[in-house]
Amino acid sequence: MIDDIRAARDAALARVEAAESLESVTALGTTLLGKKGALAQLKAQLGGLATVGEKKAAGQAVNEALQSVAAELAVRTDELGVAATDAQVQSERIDLTEHAGWPTRGHAHLVTQAWERLEDVFVGLGFRVAEGPEVETDWHNFEALNMGEGHPARGEFDTMFVDHAGDGAEPGRTVLRTHTSPVQIRTMLDQEPPIYIVAPGRVFRRDTPDATHMPVFHQIEGLVIDRDITMADLAGTIEAFTKAFFGPGWSSRLRPSYFPFTEPSAEFDIQRPDGSWLELGGCGMVHPNVLTACDLDPDEWSGFAFGFGIDRMAVMRHAVGDIRDMFTNDIRFLSQF
Ligand code: PHE
Repeated sequence: MIDDIRAARDAALARVEAAESLESVTALGTTLLGKKGALAQLKAQLGGLATVGEKKAAGQAVNEALQSVAAELAVRTDELGVAATDAQVQSERIDLTEHAGWPTRGHAHLVTQAWERLEDVFVGLGFRVAEGPEVETDWHNFEALNMGEGHPARGEFDTMFVDHAGDGAEPGRTVLRTHTSPVQIRTMLDQEPPIYIVAPGRVFRRDTPDATHMPVFHQIEGLVIDRDITMADLAGTIEAFTKAFFGPGWSSRLRPSYFPFTEPSAEFDIQRPDGSWLELGGCGMVHPNVLTACDLDPDEWSGFAFGFGIDRMAVMRHAVGDIRDMFTNDIRFLSQF
């Protein structure tokens, strides 16, 4: 009997040790310690033993066996419980050191950079920033700028016309502004002199895109209206701007030219530190007809205006070979600047 009890105990302990999961160890508890377990059945046979001494010894052996199986079940339950918790923690672990690479930080477009720097420099020289609409009337874009109906200079602007007859405009007399000069007109109609403004903005011409032309590009206009303004003020302003924007090693010059809205008119060039010249834009003294169109008395007020391309400046500054690169928005190009 004692041997049977030991054999049953050892078999039970072996099964508990072999249990691989919490569920199976729990199930084993019921099987091994329950009424149908081998030890319980041996206990039931105690009554059939011959002597009291034998009964006592076997009873004690069964109880000890049951206790050691119960103790081993508790140990195994503990072990498997810790392992299960470990496994769960491991599976739910968040790797806080993991990242998908740093986000790409963007920056302002090349044209915007040039635009903002130009504004900064001119604001530093005492100018204010003005603006006007990109869709303009023929009157603001041409007529008030001393380019009446049939003026040959109109032909030099490859104008895009807009089908629009609202606001009292006749059909065919609304344009996408071909330059920022209409902002001169709007500002003079809007404000009392003295006027010191720059007007950066988008302009449009019917051009086929190539390395140096785009149908949409950007200009910055300058306008000064005050008493006793002379060509010397214009030249001095251009020179001060050139040094402030490009650097102290740069200088500027004016060359006679023609624009209907300025008289006299000039092209202005800037000279690089290496001595080479670069044509930048047009300028001149505001034409008396333009002042009159804006209800200003040419005997009382005088002024100058200038205009040049913003994209061209950015292209020059960064030695970009093809102006179309400025507008195709290829991130590999843009991220270089
Ligand atoms: N509007 C002229 C152009 O687009 C430039 C200009 C502006 C010239 C102001 C003189 C004065 O070519």
